[in-house]
Amino acid sequence: MQDKYIYIKTFGCQMNVHDSEQIAELMKDQGYRVTDDEKRADLVIVNTCSIRAKAEQKAYSTLGRFRRMKEDNPSMIIGVGGCLAQQLGTKFFKKLPYLDLVFGTHNIHRLPELVRTVERTGDRVSETTFHETVPSLGIVTPPSNGNICSFVTIMQGCNNFCAFCVVPYLRGREESRLPDAIIEEIRCLTDNDIREVTLLGQNVNSYGKTLPDDVDFSQLLRKIADIDGVRRIRFTTSHPKDLSESLVACFADIDKLCKHIHLPVQSGSDNILKKMNRHYTVDDYLDKVDKLRKACPEISLSTDIIVGFPGETEKDFQKTIDLMEKVRFDSSFSFKYSRRLGTAAAGFDNHVPEDAKAKRLSILQSLQERHMIASNQACVGTVEHVLVEGYSKNSQADIMGRTGSNKIVNFTGDIEKVGTIVPVKIQKAYTHSLRGELLTRKGDERC
Ligand code: 5AD
Ligand code: SF4
Repeated sequence: MQDKYIYIKTFGCQMNVHDSEQIAELMKDQGYRVTDDEKRADLVIVNTCSIRAKAEQKAYSTLGRFRRMKEDNPSMIIGVGGCLAQQLGTKFFKKLPYLDLVFGTHNIHRLPELVRTVERTGDRVSETTFHETVPSLGIVTPPSNGNICSFVTIMQGCNNFCAFCVVPYLRGREESRLPDAIIEEIRCLTDNDIREVTLLGQNVNSYGKTLPDDVDFSQLLRKIADIDGVRRIRFTTSHPKDLSESLVACFADIDKLCKHIHLPVQSGSDNILKKMNRHYTVDDYLDKVDKLRKACPEISLSTDIIVGFPGETEKDFQKTIDLMEKVRFDSSFSFKYSRRLGTAAAGFDNHVPEDAKAKRLSILQSLQERHMIASNQACVGTVEHVLVEGYSKNSQADIMGRTGSNKIVNFTGDIEKVGTIVPVKIQKAYTHSLRGELLTRKGDERC
């Protein structure tokens, strides 16, 4: 059989990145090999995100490029998945008549069959049915690409309905996977050289709530830490309202748990947090940060912040800046509020003008950059334990890995070290990475 090629373009979060990896695996069984060269593709999948208007626009502009390619190569199959596909369903065919295939967030398992239908009949197909239980893809082995880090989905969907967010409408209600299935998947991953797992869910802190057995996220973490081949555990993302004392304790006593938490705060104003339907106050948030830092003084903190939520005044914005000064996040993702159809906030009064949002974002990001540089500079002179992932992005003469606190470190070393945790003395700090020197394990001499 002649090789066929699939080109996958992914937008959005780690959840989508993981879905795309799984799409590649599913389609491998159908004779499709992944290509980075879109012109060579027999099948193109655009995995979309609609969390903000900007992500949607990027997906549309990519799809526009494929329209021209399809004119040159009419047998090319073009499919769209992800949140935008879930939202539009067959309406996508009206908008972009050259599409062959639309599949929703609960329908990835049907992709091989849907592609076969298009191949056989040339008809357009769409499948966006929501299922109470998201069908399993049955894939547990990691792609054989030499990676030593892997995502593992532990739950799907979200029940929180933050006023700005479309996710609960497009990914459905929260549903946790059974712990045994997660453990089995991780065992299989470690048998295939995976050393670090990142547990994925829209709100991992509420893991277990939908399960018949009494198991919560901290218990799941302890079970995973007991797996021999696992060297490091990360997770994302957390909701401050559900961050329990038992999870805080995990940072103090599970060695394999990376000392980093992504804890989206969204705003530093109680008034705005209430309108956002976040169910915590600034004091609650600061209290949780305090507890985390008491339990684990070296913990690094990252966050998500939205500026210009409807009704956000200059005073509210200043409170967000004050909160950032208090917490001094190691890193953050910040966004201008983007009106999403169907969400509660879309109907709120007092939408903030775009130029005011842009100004606030720029002030906030400059402050974050200063905090990030300071946090990286504080590492200079320390010895960090780095899990080696591969060659450095900029030079094959160097290798790179990440610290437990999730900072990228580049240093000179042997590629054979991939998959091991090595001590690196940090010599230089940049905004987004560190540079260091590999040490031997005994003492701090050079290798
Ligand atoms: N506008 C701007 N940012 C948003 N996010 C989610 N919805 C919106 C929106 N409508 C941000 C939140 C969330 C992150 C994944 O995306 O900060 O934590
Ligand atoms: Fe969206 Fe809020 Fe759910 Fe996160 S917790 S996915 S921001 S609704």
